[in-house]
Amino acid sequence: MKVLVTQIIDDVGIEALHDAGLTADVWPGPAPIPRHELLQRVAHCQGIIAMPTDRIDAEVMDAGPLQVVANHAVGVDNIDLQAAHDRQITVTNTPGVLTDATADLTMALVLACARRVLEGHALVTSGAFEGWRPTMLRGMDLRGATLGIVGMGRIGRAVSERAAAFGMKVVHHSRTGGVPLQTLLAESDVLSLHCPLTEDTRHLIDADALERMKSSAILINTARGPVVDESALVRALEADGIAAAGLDVFEEEPQVHPGLIGLPNVVLLPHLGSATRHTRKQMAQMAAANLIAVLSGRLPPTPVLKESS
Ligand code: DGY
Repeated sequence: MKVLVTQIIDDVGIEALHDAGLTADVWPGPAPIPRHELLQRVAHCQGIIAMPTDRIDAEVMDAGPLQVVANHAVGVDNIDLQAAHDRQITVTNTPGVLTDATADLTMALVLACARRVLEGHALVTSGAFEGWRPTMLRGMDLRGATLGIVGMGRIGRAVSERAAAFGMKVVHHSRTGGVPLQTLLAESDVLSLHCPLTEDTRHLIDADALERMKSSAILINTARGPVVDESALVRALEADGIAAAGLDVFEEEPQVHPGLIGLPNVVLLPHLGSATRHTRKQMAQMAAANLIAVLSGRLPPTPVLKESS
């Protein structure tokens, strides 16, 4: 049987596919596989290891004999789960293994924004640093500050543990509990997004939400870009409606709203949440194990149920 892997992944994943007797067609990247290549290559494949950058919809599913879409990510907003369900195609993801890496990167953004790390770096590298000054680049104290978490799943909880170690007070809002979103917006000194992208969370942070935030607040997004209305965010940052934003994901990824580029009070990263060597190895292993299980007629370790989207 043949499977399509839409980017180069850690070797352990490819080795596992070969050991299972599967032929792997690996798209070399680095750019995401073009749509026409995806449709053409999937025509010969029973399984696909897909990336968050691949839109796996009914057209792709109907283009070949697919039995399984093993997402190399925990988020599955790139996959039409209803279409997969209708076609009895199994969808799997990689939960758990990227929790710590993503929570760590979230804290990197919190610290970078709160302590104005990039502004300090720019001051030094531009040659404008004239010496220590009591009023230079004063930032936010994390101890005593309120961290508002939207989405209290694995990653939200891991961020809350880390924030507690910094002396932050943690409040949250989720589908199943916590405080109302309006309260969270009004009370948070740092607001961090950890919800999946669904029709309910698309533009959850819009102009109205941003207006409810403190003008001293920091917004962090390591979830999915479209959870934030990026144009509204640019307006809020330009008008000092909020103090700063740390973004690992973008609404039209990989494009970044031009208004964000060059703002001194933003930290922009290229979707690095899970980008550690160990985590990416585990993600590749898990995606391959899921795919192999389905093609061997076994239950996959981490299936995605349509209802959980
Ligand atoms: C995921 O797993 O959903 C991430 O966004 C990719 O690191």
